[in-house]
Amino acid sequence: MTLPSDAFRHVASRAHEPLRTFHPRRATLGRDRERALAHLWPRFGFSVHDDALGRAPLRADGSLDVAALFGRFAPLVLEIGSGMGETTVAMAAADPSRDYLAVEAHLPGVANLLVLIERAALTNVRVAHGDALDLVRRHVPEGTLDAVHVFFPDPWPKARHHKRRLVQPAHVALLRSRLRVGGTLHCATDWADYADQMLEVLTADPGLENTADGFVARPAHRPVTKFEQRGIDLGHEVRDVVMRRTR
Ligand SMILES: C[S@@+](CC[C@H](N)C(=O)[O-])C[C@H]1O[C@@H](n2cnc3c(N)ncnc32)[C@H](O)[C@@H]1O
Repeated sequence: MTLPSDAFRHVASRAHEPLRTFHPRRATLGRDRERALAHLWPRFGFSVHDDALGRAPLRADGSLDVAALFGRFAPLVLEIGSGMGETTVAMAAADPSRDYLAVEAHLPGVANLLVLIERAALTNVRVAHGDALDLVRRHVPEGTLDAVHVFFPDPWPKARHHKRRLVQPAHVALLRSRLRVGGTLHCATDWADYADQMLEVLTADPGLENTADGFVARPAHRPVTKFEQRGIDLGHEVRDVVMRRTR
């Protein structure tokens, strides 16, 4: 089988929305991740953009066949931008009654998550390579997700790049529509102005309510990733916000 590559970006950015929420980066894999891709991708991975690279199981109506993907039907958590996958694996291991679908645009992160899935012998994690927003728009039906996790999305600190930020009104409305009523959208960032933007945008969405009064302390079930630790070491304050779909 052909294995995924980061070439999807060129195809995808022409065909869909030109503004991507992630940085174009070169992918260097290394031996363990190459091996994980070769052995584990066919079992645990699929490509958002290219069926030839591993197809998502879809129903006749084009929606993701979650039961076929996981081999069971359980509440589904979608993680957008899983990075190296440490959080996905820790949360999924502690929460075996739910299934976790991690979507990551950067191939080394996808491959690293495959390594971690195998190491932890997890059966409730799958990984998609590509743009999570494209996947959600095209293949995730309304009202079907139990939770959406957006942890430390690219901060796009320059004002002219803010339009690339993941947490913005249109994306929040999209993600909210895919949650079941009562499902949660959990976001975290270590960038102060992005945290404020998150709270503002999330609060303004008419179908979401805050589960707390503003930000919450990091819930114990969300582990600190290396990426987050780098922010903390730089003196950044980490903020979490957990919203619930109301209607
Ligand atoms: C700053 S990193 C944080 C990674 C991880 N969540 C953590 O806390 O360590 C953000 C990640 O989100 C990914 N990303 C951003 N937008 C994405 C999208 N639309 N679809 C999939 N991945 C995305 C990037 O490739 C990057 O790996």
